[in-house]
Amino acid sequence: MTPRPLLLLGAGGLAREALAAVRALPEQWQPLGALDDDPARHGALLDGLPVLGGTQLVHEHPDAAVLACVANARRPRGRAELVRRLGLPHARWASVVHPACSLAPGVEVGAGALLLAGVVVTAPQRIGAHVVAMPHVLLTHDDEVGDFATLAGRATLAGGVRLGQSAYVGQGALLREYTSIGEAAVIGMGAVVLTDVPPGQTWAGNPAGPLPTDERRPDEVR
Ligand SMILES: CC(C)(COP(=O)(O)OP(=O)(O)OC[C@H]1O[C@@H](n2cnc3c(N)ncnc32)[C@H](O)[C@@H]1OP(=O)(O)O)[C@@H](O)C(=O)NCCC(=O)NCCS
Repeated sequence: MTPRPLLLLGAGGLAREALAAVRALPEQWQPLGALDDDPARHGALLDGLPVLGGTQLVHEHPDAAVLACVANARRPRGRAELVRRLGLPHARWASVVHPACSLAPGVEVGAGALLLAGVVVTAPQRIGAHVVAMPHVLLTHDDEVGDFATLAGRATLAGGVRLGQSAYVGQGALLREYTSIGEAAVIGMGAVVLTDVPPGQTWAGNPAGPLPTDERRPDEVR
């Protein structure tokens, strides 16, 4: 199999982790460079990979696959906004699954999704487009992970949990079975979620509840 050229969007920590996953799959991917809209990063090396310029450069490399490697709990819709702004055809988006993941037969991984090392999915389900699952995320039977959702390391979903689009689940959070996390809701690291979380809210703690100081600006919860 000839490896497909690949551009990473973003040149931060998640892009470095994505690059390590891509380099573990040399028969599938040939990383060309990273693209980032922060001019201060242009010309730098990301673990040896050149930062070629801004994200609009994707249009100058039509043969390259593309992977969005940005995630920020304070901007849960940030990755969706980037993907929509670029308007690339579906076939341009790469799905990268680190070889150290364990996916049950029948799991479907959406376009543009990134699953880092140690992700375990125990029963067939669809993982949405542009989902990011960081190391050791655990998904179990009947979970539904919506497009653009982010799961930080060791986030654990019991059975039948539904994550809305662009939901963000922080490190080590535990989600009770059959709970539902609303669109662009944010779950803080270490939270124990026992009830449904409304869209756009930030919840944390054990048992999890709304943060009293949830002051995300309107453009961040749009
Ligand atoms: C929930 C979260 C998004 C809140 O961030 P924030 O809006 O910047 O909130 P602040 O740090 O200003 O904290 C606001 C309040 O919430 C509390 N708080 C923040 N995160 C909390 C958490 N995970 N659990 C319990 N309380 C938390 C703070 O103690 C603070 O309380 P106070 O007002 O009584 O002092 C953030 O703390 C978090 O958990 N992010 C996820 C981190 C992560 O998983 N990263 C992985 C990718 S590398």
